[in-house]
Amino acid sequence: MITPDNAIDTRALLAFYAEAGVDEALDEAPVNRFAEAAPQPSPPAAAQPAAARAAAVPIAQAAPRPAQAAVPDEAQAALARQLAAGAATLEELREAMASFDGCNLKFTAKNLVFSDGNPEAALMLVGEAPGRDEDIEGRPFVGRSGRLLDRMLAAIGLDRQSAYIANVIPWRPPGNRAPTPHETEICRPFIERQIELVGPKVLVNLGGPSAKTLLNTTEGILRLRGNWRVHTTASGTVIPAMPTLHPAYLLRTPAHKRLAWRDFVEVKMKLKALQA
Ligand code: URA
Repeated sequence: MITPDNAIDTRALLAFYAEAGVDEALDEAPVNRFAEAAPQPSPPAAAQPAAARAAAVPIAQAAPRPAQAAVPDEAQAALARQLAAGAATLEELREAMASFDGCNLKFTAKNLVFSDGNPEAALMLVGEAPGRDEDIEGRPFVGRSGRLLDRMLAAIGLDRQSAYIANVIPWRPPGNRAPTPHETEICRPFIERQIELVGPKVLVNLGGPSAKTLLNTTEGILRLRGNWRVHTTASGTVIPAMPTLHPAYLLRTPAHKRLAWRDFVEVKMKLKALQA
């Protein structure tokens, strides 16, 4: 309980939680998820309107829990691959992703965060996963990291009309936790197809998770960054890819902004060379 004596500490604690991404109060008491029954198979998408999923239902009132969360497994990844491959346009891909119930992250997210920018652009940037602001707006990189990204793009003469932006994971992980390997494997076919449909001349991987997922490597981002790699699409198109530091990392480690600056200059030179 907040009293005059502990009010300041409580405020500091809440500020700390907000900074750490813990910004959704679900219930008064902790819930032992291990004691709950295993989730049932997910019902058809039509039975789960987005508005119903987004509604904040206090957990204590939700017993028995609706069978809405799918278990991440190979079947879901296979379905994602099938849906992604069947999408002939970006709009079809967006619709396929919106109807896909195989990733648990969808059920805690408010919105699908599909893309921002210009799908005709020569440059595509791929981050890791949406945060709180992106989840609310349904657009990637609109929070603090996004504002830094805008400045990084401006430094090489680009903006959101001359670049296309997406994430490996299109739904916000709760509390901004890192996506699990399962979640990444389930979402991977979607971002791979998105890259294929956009067909950029140059890809930029913002941060380690994007680089590892799309460049087929396990190396850390500090080793990878600054060196050209390639992303190969399902149809065999080879796209030059520059792994660089994630804007959120740069906000925490401003001394490394000079490294990202070098990477973006490389990107600018590559775009110029490819357009020549
Ligand atoms: N970080 C990301 O990786 N993507 C976003 O959209 C926002 C922050």
